[in-house]
Amino acid sequence: MTELATRWLGLELQSPLVVGASPLTDDLDALKACVRAGAGAVVMHSLFEEQLVEEQMAAHRFIDSRINMDAEARSFFPESEVFEMGSGSYLQRLELLRRSLDVPVIASLNGISTGGWTGHALELEAAGAHAIELNLYDLATDPSETADSLEQRQLAVVRSVTEQVSIPVSVKLSPFYSALPAFVAGVEAAGARGLVLFNRFYQPEMDLDELELSREVVLSSSAELPLRLHAAAMLYGQTSLEMAVSGGVHTGDDAAKAILSGATAVQVVSAILADGPGALGQIHDGLIRRLSDMGYRDLIEARGALSMERAPNSRTWERLNYARLLHGWK
Ligand SMILES: Cc1cc2nc3c(=O)[nH]c(=O)nc-3n(C[C@H](O)[C@H](O)[C@H](O)COP(=O)(O)O)c2cc1C
Repeated sequence: MTELATRWLGLELQSPLVVGASPLTDDLDALKACVRAGAGAVVMHSLFEEQLVEEQMAAHRFIDSRINMDAEARSFFPESEVFEMGSGSYLQRLELLRRSLDVPVIASLNGISTGGWTGHALELEAAGAHAIELNLYDLATDPSETADSLEQRQLAVVRSVTEQVSIPVSVKLSPFYSALPAFVAGVEAAGARGLVLFNRFYQPEMDLDELELSREVVLSSSAELPLRLHAAAMLYGQTSLEMAVSGGVHTGDDAAKAILSGATAVQVVSAILADGPGALGQIHDGLIRRLSDMGYRDLIEARGALSMERAPNSRTWERLNYARLLHGWK
């Protein structure tokens, strides 16, 4: 049987399967069941830059309001929800998960600009996070901002987090970079240890009857996986960052494909949200079955076996495959 124990971000994991960032953070029983079913680590849902900045602003406002502001001036500021959404409860949750789960707990930050909010990374480390996953969910909407300036801003955020903590930091990327390998090299130079491929973009659906946008989260399917597999296979051997695939892993075979493409860890969210922790158990068993059938003793043997590392000229290889695929259609 294939041995699934592995190391992700320098952490010892019983398996490469990781419960990805999601509301499962708030369901300790479900997380325990995931660990029993074979999860090697859990990622908490994200603390957002906007949330942390708002918290700091509200704290200032609160103090100011006690000192010297008259009622009219105060009325310019919206009421804060700081005491409902504070980072304090996140830290408490982190401490609880640390005490209750015997697998690594990875905290998550989500932000796009440098600033005081990144200081919260230090609090996450102090509260016992084994690692931090930094989600760069950032969409270009300003025609005057170039790709380069947007990427430099993102790399500055990575640097400002990695510089503050001694625990490992992984960076969760969007799939849409013109030159992903070059950006990944920048992420590595900025001190990150791992990559999470990829974020999902939540395109709102249009409600034509009501003429409004509906913001329902649609869970993924395995159809989202190939984009991730392609990126992992292309980056494997080109970066010393470890890679986790996130998005579209629903079966043991999906997880096997991620490993064979070069991933060290495989994150799962939608499958668990849809079918409960048992789904993770099935992925776990299916992964062992598949890799054992293929004759791999452990993940080191399997990792990257289907990567593009051995393709001598990946651009030519890509172009040829593309042309062959289109011409071969019947
Ligand atoms: C309801 C829900 C909440 C999520 N919350 C977060 C979050 O707080 N931070 C984050 O980085 N990703 C978040 N994600 C994205 C997941 O971590 C994951 O990357 C994505 O769902 C793709 O994986 P999947 O196909 O296994 O669902 C969330 C996803 C869902 C469905």
